Amino acid sequence: MKLVLKGGRIIDPSQQLDEIGDVLVEDGRIVAVVNVEKKADKTTTVIDASGLVVAPGLVDMHVHLREPGLEAKEDIASGTRAAAAGGYTTVCPMPNTNPIIDNAILVAGMKEKAREEGVVNIQIIGALSKGQQGKELAEIGDMLANGAVALSDDGHYVESAYILKTGLEYAGTFGGLIISHAEEESLAGDGFMHEGAVSAMLGLRGRPAVAEDIAVARDCLLAEYTGGAIHIAHVSSAGAVECIRQAKQRGVKVTAEVTPHHLTLTDKAVIGFNTATKVNPPLRSEEHVEALLAGLKDGTLDAIATDHAPHAFEEKDMEFRYAPSGFAGLETALGAILTGLYHTKKLTLSEVIDKMATTPARILGLEAGTLKMGAPADIVLIDTEQEWTVDSKNFYTRGKCTPYEGKKLRGKAVATIVGGRIVMQGGEVKE
Ligand code: NCD
Repeated sequence: MKLVLKGGRIIDPSQQLDEIGDVLVEDGRIVAVVNVEKKADKTTTVIDASGLVVAPGLVDMHVHLREPGLEAKEDIASGTRAAAAGGYTTVCPMPNTNPIIDNAILVAGMKEKAREEGVVNIQIIGALSKGQQGKELAEIGDMLANGAVALSDDGHYVESAYILKTGLEYAGTFGGLIISHAEEESLAGDGFMHEGAVSAMLGLRGRPAVAEDIAVARDCLLAEYTGGAIHIAHVSSAGAVECIRQAKQRGVKVTAEVTPHHLTLTDKAVIGFNTATKVNPPLRSEEHVEALLAGLKDGTLDAIATDHAPHAFEEKDMEFRYAPSGFAGLETALGAILTGLYHTKKLTLSEVIDKMATTPARILGLEAGTLKMGAPADIVLIDTEQEWTVDSKNFYTRGKCTPYEGKKLRGKAVATIVGGRIVMQGGEVKE
C-alpha cells in the first residue's frame, strides 16, 4: 500500500530537515522524503498536507494506560486512541498497574495485548523493584530481554539508595535505563500541592521543591558513582534543573523529561481547589516554570513527556485532599506546547518536534522519532494555527479530567499515521 503526503512542511530534527515537499510511504515504511520521484498509481492514497507540518509521530515516554487491573481509569484501547488523537504514534506505559509489571511474563503479556488492542505502538516500562515496593530488585534482566525498554518505580521514589545503586549497576550491564520519580518521601509524602505562598493561603500542606532537589541530587550522584544511566521523570523544580545541568557537565549519564503542565501552568491554578490541578510532582510557582523553560531551551531537559495519568471521574470528583493525583495529558500536550511555547517564540517548531518525538525515541533506543528512509512510517500532521477549546467530553481517554478544561489552544494534530496506516484524521480515530 502506497501513501503520499503532498506539499507539507516536513520537519525532521533527526536529519536537520525543514523543507516543503512530499513524503512517500510504501508497505508501512518511509521510502522517500522531499523529492518524491515515484509516480503515484491507482492504489496510492494521497493526503494533501499543504499548510500543515509533517513530522515524525510523537513519542511519549511516560504514560499510564492502567492495564492490567485499573481499567475503570483507562485501558490499552482507550489510552492508545487518546494517543492517536493527540498525534502520538508511540507511548510507553508505566508499570504501576495491578498487578505491577515486574516480571518478564507480564511484560510479554502486555506486549501481546498492546499488539491486539493498541492503535499506536506501545513500548513497555517494567518495574525496578518487586511490586514497586523498593525492597528487592525486580527481574530486570529478564524484562529487558523480553522487550521492556526501561525500568521504573514511577509513582514512588526509590527510597533506598542501596536499591537504586544496585539497580543502576545491574541494569547497566544490560544497557538498561532507569527512570526515577524523584520526590523525597519524608518531605513530599503528606503534601497536596507545591509548598509556597499559595499553599499557605489555601491551607493545604505542601510538597516542597527541595524534596525534588534532594532526590535528583542523590540520583545523579548514584548514576555518577555507578556509571549507570538514569532518566529523571517529570522534572518540576529549579533546583532539579540546576542539579541535572551540573551532572551533565560532569559527564554523568543523566537525561530528563518535563511535562506540558509543568511548563505552562503554575500553582495559582490550584486556587479554587479544582482537583484537575492535583498532580505529582505538583504545579510549581513562576520561578520554577522559568527555570524549566531555560532548562528545556539549553538541553538540560531533553524531552517533553505527558505523564498522562487518567483517573475515573468519580475518583477526581471529591475534596482536594482525597482526590488521586494526576490527570489526562495525551490529547492536550501538543496544543498546550504549541500555544505556550511555540506561538510565544520560546521554542522553534523543530525544537518542539525534537523534544516530543526524536529525543525521547533516542533516549529509549526506539526505531521512531525520525522520517529517515527505511524508518517505520510513524507520522503526525500538525495544523499549527488551528484554534480549539479543550472539552474533556470529546476526549478518547477515560480520564475526563484536565487542568486545561475550557482553555483555548492554538495548534493540533490533524492526522496520525502508524506504520503507514492512517489511524486518526480530522480528530477522528478510525480504528
Ligand atoms: C501518577 C499516577 O496516577 O499513576 N500520578 C501523578 O500524579 N503523576 C503517579 C505518580 O507519578 O505519582
